[in-house]
Amino acid sequence: MSAQIIDGKQIAQQVRHQVKADIDKRNAEGKRPPCLAVVLVGADPASHIYVKHKKQACKDVGIESTAYELSSDITQQALIELIDTLNADPGTDGILVQLPLPEQLDTTAIIERIRPDKDVDGFHAFNLGRLAQRIPALRPCTPKGIMTLLKSTGVDLYGQEAVIVGASNIVGRPMTLELLLAGCTTTTTHRFTRDLEAHVRRADIVVVGVGKPGIVKGDWIKPGAIVIDVGINRLEDGSVVGDIEYTPAAERAAWITPVPGGVGPMTVASLMENTLEAAAQLNP
Ligand code: GUN
Repeated sequence: MSAQIIDGKQIAQQVRHQVKADIDKRNAEGKRPPCLAVVLVGADPASHIYVKHKKQACKDVGIESTAYELSSDITQQALIELIDTLNADPGTDGILVQLPLPEQLDTTAIIERIRPDKDVDGFHAFNLGRLAQRIPALRPCTPKGIMTLLKSTGVDLYGQEAVIVGASNIVGRPMTLELLLAGCTTTTTHRFTRDLEAHVRRADIVVVGVGKPGIVKGDWIKPGAIVIDVGINRLEDGSVVGDIEYTPAAERAAWITPVPGGVGPMTVASLMENTLEAAAQLNP
């Protein structure tokens, strides 16, 4: 078997077109465009690239963005004050603090300071709690984007064995909650999991977000599975690969996401959806 490719780039484009159409409609009704505040602390090169993509996506769909590029030695207090200002600003619909933050900052406290209804990343405990209780509000962008990709396959998700590799707050945990909400039987593996291979081998759906090239071997994939690779790893030769051995996995899977061009573009597309959703809630 050779897998069908899940084209994240194309599906992200469709999502963005829909967001743009909805914003055009709001504008025609005399509403102001949604506005996203993007907060970037320090000089992490990867974060700068991600933020650039997010700002460009905003421009493409008609979302205004305001950028706050802060020095890496900013204090917790100063960053909290900025969040408070943005929380109170009626012209700001969404607040995004690009992670990771420098070490002296308490990331959890910063995220928890963002008003949940402006938390377009869906990282606040309120939004994760809503998802856990089957009453989702703003949903974490990467898992939300992956659900859009899974739906695009047309495969019925009810009762499927889903194995999530990696238990991060950004990917693995909310991914588990999304798949549970969609009716899958979920297993979340992590660094203390004893036999990763055995779990992956019985998965109908496998989602891997660890950041280690080849952590999932291609010959572990169950024939006919759906394989979602969240990893983005740059090798010494400059090439970009995911966390799954792509070629042998693609020989066994029914569906697979490429890296790049799979999950990555969906994170940004979901952020656009969330920013519109926040704006529509705040200014109906
Ligand atoms: N760092 C890695 N992924 C993300 C994300 O989706 N949002 C933010 N804010 N930071 C990240």
